[in-house]
Amino acid sequence: MCGIIGCVGRQEETLDVLLHGLSKLEYRGYDSAGVALAGKRDAVDIEKRAGKLENLQEALEGVEMQGTVGIGHTRWSTHGPPTDSNAHPHADCEGQVAVLHNGIIENFQEIRDELVASGHDFASDTDTEVVPHLIEDALAEGASPEAAFREALSRIEGSYAIAAIFTGTEAAFCARQDSPLVLGLDADAYYLASDVPAFRDYTDQVIYMEDGEVARLDPDGWAVTDSSGALVEKDPHVVEWDAKETGKSGYDHYMIKEVHEQPRALRECLRGRVDELGDQVQLEEFAGLAPPSSVQFVACGTSYHAALYGAQLFREAGVPAQAFLASEYRTSPPPIGSNLVIGITQSGETADTLSALREASRRGAPTLAVTNVVGSSAARECDHTLYIRAGPEIGVAASKTFASQLAALNVLSLAITRTGDSREAIGALRDLPSAVQEVLDESTGEAVAKEYIDADAYFFIGRGYQYPVALEGALKMKEITYKHAEGFAAGELKHGPLALVTERTPVIAIAVGDGDAAQKTVGNIKEVEARNASVIAVTDGESGVERYADHVLPVPESHPRTAAVTASVQLQLLAYHSAAQLGRSIDKPRNLAKSVTVE
Ligand code: M6R
Repeated sequence: MCGIIGCVGRQEETLDVLLHGLSKLEYRGYDSAGVALAGKRDAVDIEKRAGKLENLQEALEGVEMQGTVGIGHTRWSTHGPPTDSNAHPHADCEGQVAVLHNGIIENFQEIRDELVASGHDFASDTDTEVVPHLIEDALAEGASPEAAFREALSRIEGSYAIAAIFTGTEAAFCARQDSPLVLGLDADAYYLASDVPAFRDYTDQVIYMEDGEVARLDPDGWAVTDSSGALVEKDPHVVEWDAKETGKSGYDHYMIKEVHEQPRALRECLRGRVDELGDQVQLEEFAGLAPPSSVQFVACGTSYHAALYGAQLFREAGVPAQAFLASEYRTSPPPIGSNLVIGITQSGETADTLSALREASRRGAPTLAVTNVVGSSAARECDHTLYIRAGPEIGVAASKTFASQLAALNVLSLAITRTGDSREAIGALRDLPSAVQEVLDESTGEAVAKEYIDADAYFFIGRGYQYPVALEGALKMKEITYKHAEGFAAGELKHGPLALVTERTPVIAIAVGDGDAAQKTVGNIKEVEARNASVIAVTDGESGVERYADHVLPVPESHPRTAAVTASVQLQLLAYHSAAQLGRSIDKPRNLAKSVTVE
């Protein structure tokens, strides 16, 4: 999704700071990029290009761009294709202002028609471009830059993180409504961004902006005001993670680095929540929360798979629980009753999940966010928040955040349902970081990936806690290899998907422990074998499944709940090595974005 960076006070370094910030935002996914510079002079310089950031950098080589205040943008197309002219920033007819925007302006067509009728020339297909033209009209009426910016905001409806710079001033202005925007404060420079990594190399002091707020940054200071113009007191937060965490640390890709960070991420997630003896969990932040009588989960993508897993945890504790795709929740809302509604979202900014949580809240349900990002919209808007503490995840494909979501959901379900008989599950949680390390140290995922690199499709099957893992394994495989992959509840195979199974479709079966779920999965593997498909078993060896498997990806013996985490690590490695052998763009798969901020 689109990314924003802006800076004030870096003088002749402004352009370098913008380009560096844009490079840090690339992980969000984008299809064009642009920058604008201004200052105490009568021009705003804009340069923008479709495609990768390198295209913009090449274009800038032959250009003299000047300015002591600047804004930069990575665009993920919504209104109009990815072309140079649709890239942000956008200008007015006179070139007095440059504007960039994340989100969607819902009433842009009506405003655009009105502006065109009054003589404005538009240079793009975007919804955003109405803003500089609205500002132009307000400036023509004698408004100051700030007043003109506010006037434009008062006309637009929808979601936005928006920033503008003007001729003749070293100030930058920005505002947010339903789209993330943060300020960074340094001794002699200020930053604005959609996402902290954009300026984390320069400062750890962050201001989180709220909906309806407008900020002015200039070399002499910064101020945040509400929609009426009244000053809002804001205290800076200190970002806890280090800038180094957003580098690749010698790995070829962020994804594989993040896969290897899982033992540490899990330790962080469980720190202070699972005691050393492994027989108690505690979540101080939820000490006063009454056990829920029922739970609804809302989430998308990988987080939805975590939600399916979380719902099982609660059901096992005797609490009725259901997982919903957030994008469907608002369209067809289930009866809310006395449910606690839990939104799972790594970024805390996924539009579909936020909208489902808002719907739940509007209908009177208490809401709880399970998220990775401190100060994210989900964290700010929900009644309660559980941080998964995975550290920044840059690869578009979720990996360590999935593991940390599963671990955090274990603690949450045990803590808030006050489940008594849980010693075994808690012990397995305590041992989970070292179990994951063992998988990382011993995985043969690379060799297995090579063996099946020419497969037509990959099918993943599992039951119980391993069913969401099968879905997640397939999602990982398809998003980074671009090959057909599907996850199924193992028992469903014979109800249709078995028709797809051939000798060219390996079936990856997750069977852990020797319980009913694993034994029945073994039965399903036999069905697959009879159709000449190869079987890759992800197993701890308890069920005897390896007898029927062509390859085994082993996981340590543990509780089925935590084996779901170790099994998903094997599947991440299988997908990663398959994608690496196919030479795919692993960290930024085609058409995908890290943080999906439109519905
Ligand atoms: O930030 P969120 O967890 O709300 O993101 C939801 C999905 O977009 C996300 O999990 C997506 O499916 C993964 N990046 C896929 O690996």
